[in-house]
Amino acid sequence: MMNGTDDLQQQTILVTGGAGYIGSHTVLQLLQADYKVVVVDNLSNSVEEALKRVADLAGSNGRNLSFYKIDLCDKNALENIFMVTRFDAVIHFAGLKAVGESVAKPLSYYYNNFVSTLNLLQVMNDKGCKKLVYSSSATVYGQPKAVPCTEDFPLEALNPYGRTKLCAEQICNDLHIGDPEWRIILLRYFNPVAAHPSGEIGEDPLGIPNNLMPFVQQVAVGRRRELAVFGNDYPTRDGTGVRDYIHVVDLADGHIAALEKLFNLSDIGCAVYNLGTGKGTSVLEMVAAFEKASGKVIPLKVVDRRPGDCSEVYAATNKAEQELGWKARYGIEEMCRDQWNWANKNPWGYEGSLEKDCM
Ligand code: UD1
Repeated sequence: MMNGTDDLQQQTILVTGGAGYIGSHTVLQLLQADYKVVVVDNLSNSVEEALKRVADLAGSNGRNLSFYKIDLCDKNALENIFMVTRFDAVIHFAGLKAVGESVAKPLSYYYNNFVSTLNLLQVMNDKGCKKLVYSSSATVYGQPKAVPCTEDFPLEALNPYGRTKLCAEQICNDLHIGDPEWRIILLRYFNPVAAHPSGEIGEDPLGIPNNLMPFVQQVAVGRRRELAVFGNDYPTRDGTGVRDYIHVVDLADGHIAALEKLFNLSDIGCAVYNLGTGKGTSVLEMVAAFEKASGKVIPLKVVDRRPGDCSEVYAATNKAEQELGWKARYGIEEMCRDQWNWANKNPWGYEGSLEKDCM
């Protein structure tokens, strides 16, 4: 079994959903940290081009990346990959993640997110690969009663997407209770934004973006007319919602720190960490920072609150700092600089303007 003393041998990590936004940035950091990486992705909301760019950015380490287009709901396909490669650990990003869509299509969310996660855990268990980093979300805090959110806050799911995250956390906990050989880290992301500073990889959502910064970026490049600000009557500094935005490269580095912890601490159990900056920024502050970074004006229209939104959410970061030795390095200026750099270089995302909707 691998542990901290085996570091002379290169470790191999399976990354599910590795072609996606957070996945692709994490794969790059893994390659740069000398890991071998196997990505599986069904490309339902991502493109292989992202991985080609990751391999280029990684230089000679790019040869340590391989990719299989499979769907985790296909257990046989996953088993076949585990037959040919021995994995030291898995980072599980793959899943559907749009809140609104999850309300409209709950069966699709429950089927995809549960079947894929259960298949993965079963195959890992059968093959004796029992180290997992799981992509969770601050959504499991529901409407938090106070801020900052500490990891021991009561948990609550407000929609099917949130329920799949919360339930997967509980499944991981049960797995470790049943078999203490499992080492699991659950990472609760706050609001990932920005892009790799090269501007080569970034977020490229299908259709109308649900999240703030992808929408702002599409206004900046002329793909959308104006940003709808969802409410300016919240009890915050300027009335707009406050969130903990975190640079995706910081987030990716948080996964490397978590992996190292899994390899080095045999009694980690099933541990949970927030990945955020600990700082809250309002919608208007974020837009102003983006305007400054891009030199573009973002026209705004204040509309009604979005159902399910809360006024203010940000992370307590002490636990990750103390136990993972990880802390976010970038502030909102750098986030907006890198968001704009990606947008400016790739106004229509990875694959040009073909089949993309507008306005
Ligand atoms: C959302 C999800 C959350 C998920 C996270 C993933 C909801 C209710 N929550 O979080 O479950 O884990 O994305 O990144 O969808 N805003 C606007 N106009 C827009 C878009 C957003 O004013 O067009 C505001 C929102 O009201 C909020 C802030 O911007 O105050 C951030 O919104 P968003 O990027 O969607 O993230 P969350 O709602 O925090």
